[in-house]
Amino acid sequence: MQRIICLVIIITFFCGRLAAQPVYKDSGAPLEERVSDLLRRMTLEEKIMQLNQWTYGRNDNVNNHEKAERQVDPTIGSVIYRSTSPALRNELQRRAMEETRLGIPILFGFDVIHGYRTIFPIPLAQSCAWDAELVREGCRVAATEAYLTGIDWTFSPMVDVARDARWGRVAEGYGEDPYLNAVLGTAAVEGYQGDDLSQPYNIAACLKHYVGYSLSEGGRDYHYTDISGQTLWETMLPPFEAGVAAGAATVMSSFNDISGIPGSANRYTLTEILKEHWGFDGFVVSDWGSVEQLVNQGVAADRREAAMKAFMAGVEMDMVDNAYKDHLGELVSEGLVPVGNIDEAVRRILRVKFRLGLFDDPYTPELPEEDRYLLPEFRRAAERAAAESMVLLKNERSVLPLTDPAARIALIGPMADERVHLMGSWEGKGLADDVRSILDGMLSEFGPDRIMTARGCGFDGDDTSGFDEAVRIAAGADVAVLCLGEMEHWSGENGTRSTLALPDVQERLAAEIHRTGTPVVLLLSSGRPVELARLESLADAILVVWQPGTCGGVAVAGILSGRTNPSGKLSITFPLHTGQIPIYYNMRNPARHNQGLYQDIPSAPLYEFGHGLSYTTFEYGEIFLPETVFSRNETITAEIEVRNTGARDGKEAVLWFVTDPVASISRPAKELKHFEKQDIPAGESRTYRFEIVPERDLSFVDARGGRHLENGEFILTVGNRKIKFELTD
Ligand code: GLC
Repeated sequence: MQRIICLVIIITFFCGRLAAQPVYKDSGAPLEERVSDLLRRMTLEEKIMQLNQWTYGRNDNVNNHEKAERQVDPTIGSVIYRSTSPALRNELQRRAMEETRLGIPILFGFDVIHGYRTIFPIPLAQSCAWDAELVREGCRVAATEAYLTGIDWTFSPMVDVARDARWGRVAEGYGEDPYLNAVLGTAAVEGYQGDDLSQPYNIAACLKHYVGYSLSEGGRDYHYTDISGQTLWETMLPPFEAGVAAGAATVMSSFNDISGIPGSANRYTLTEILKEHWGFDGFVVSDWGSVEQLVNQGVAADRREAAMKAFMAGVEMDMVDNAYKDHLGELVSEGLVPVGNIDEAVRRILRVKFRLGLFDDPYTPELPEEDRYLLPEFRRAAERAAAESMVLLKNERSVLPLTDPAARIALIGPMADERVHLMGSWEGKGLADDVRSILDGMLSEFGPDRIMTARGCGFDGDDTSGFDEAVRIAAGADVAVLCLGEMEHWSGENGTRSTLALPDVQERLAAEIHRTGTPVVLLLSSGRPVELARLESLADAILVVWQPGTCGGVAVAGILSGRTNPSGKLSITFPLHTGQIPIYYNMRNPARHNQGLYQDIPSAPLYEFGHGLSYTTFEYGEIFLPETVFSRNETITAEIEVRNTGARDGKEAVLWFVTDPVASISRPAKELKHFEKQDIPAGESRTYRFEIVPERDLSFVDARGGRHLENGEFILTVGNRKIKFELTD
């Protein structure tokens, strides 16, 4: 009898529970069970709506934003959310949760690339700081501001290894090396997503642009990319593999045609490599219109065929061109797209939404703006990132720092009192009014009595009417600080330029200022390496400030005054001339050394990958290895001691390179395999260590993704030091 009573109680309990709520709404149920339960309940139309992302058109009239966003269909999978109103976002989400049949939350996405409202230096700049923690911290700040706006998902980090700076999007990645992109891309994913995606202030990351987009021919954005299997596996894929291993929730397919099969219709990359080989269980979103653009690329006759090709290749969500919304239903009914594939795609999207906790906690706190954005600790983090990312390329006669308290400073050039251009491309919701210009920074650092300023000229054009005033104040100053560079839209998406040189009028202004005989400090603000062939000799010091963000002006002034000792090192090569492109540090050795060189210009770059000066000096000791012959199965501990031989405290990033001089395929002349940055007080030394794991650090991948570790000689290079060692069984 007792048993019967217990049985009745248990059945009653579970029936009650079943009747109380479906499994997918039960926060205590296992995630995959919740996904499966919800999937079973969905109609085909509801499933297809999850595969679409909405945004309003290019109508950026702010008066229309919120009206347009109110028109979104609440059953849509995702929205690119441009408003900064958490209340509006919650209103849209409430409609999805309460006014639809199943209450599936919307995923609100946005391009939070290097900050949301507090703008950090562009990613290319951040990579010159050689500090993963700095990148992680910046992404945490960005995630916090975005989360408090109602953004659940950022289309970042961009980890496209870039070697052609005519391509404007070089600004958005972490430079020319695959390992550096992998380390910093991982730090970005961790910064955005935190330890638990479902916790507040964490947002989903998106690795982009998958894959090979940066090899756009001629640097022409959106163009063809001819990518060999070796380049794909050795250079382009590693940062994405690292990001997937770090748990990135999403990946964005790229625009570019990958040797005949566009990135958004490429089953080999999107499914075989990403999902079957790496085990990625999030979802792929297309790039903006990259589904329907398959028609332009000649692999689809119309949007219907484009939808079928992109979807069957492995793009789960269609960004804003509605090709999926318009055609997947008929493709399923005609048997061209199996409903099982639809289910798998929806499963991946629902999985991310459940991981984000959106079913259980769909709304964002509605705080006033002053409690969301530009908090003092956010500004401090942004200023620190800006200061650490700037690179001192040249400093003749130690003209920097400007320590003479009586020195009169002429601040000249189109960038001297600029704000919006200091933020660079993808400035999110950063406002020019938030930005401290270089002039602002200089006035507060040096005092108004010592600063004279004149614009001299515009960013381009041929108006030289401002030259005379600029020359006059330079002639009367002890130092001329010349602020040149790029407007923010010259780099970033669609920022293709035929030359890395600045417009002629800026170079002519530099020549006029140089002619006064006053020492010149050139500040370069740009989203890409700049051609300095004619400018380099006109300046006694050159500081690359990049596009340093909201607090850039203060960071620049701090370096010029010596308050900050610069520690940045180039993560991308500065060619002498644009004609040298492609030029990057880890090229393969040519058949002939000292032949095949340019007849008309030097063949070496002006400033190499890893170059960067400090106000102090560092001396590298010998590299220490416990042996000279090692088993392939043992970890090899390499060490080097670096001494600060100058009079100022400093930070030194030590870069470790490996060379495999003879292998079954030719190998790059050297490859970055480890880096570390440390503070070294004046007169002291620090030990840097690299734990070499042969399978990881000495092996290479072939054109089909196979990894090989071969015995033989290897060379380790650190700074100006080298050491050989041998690997055996
Ligand atoms: C753009 C960019 C991509 C961005 C997306 C959404 O075209 O290629 O990087 O995330 O569209 O704005």
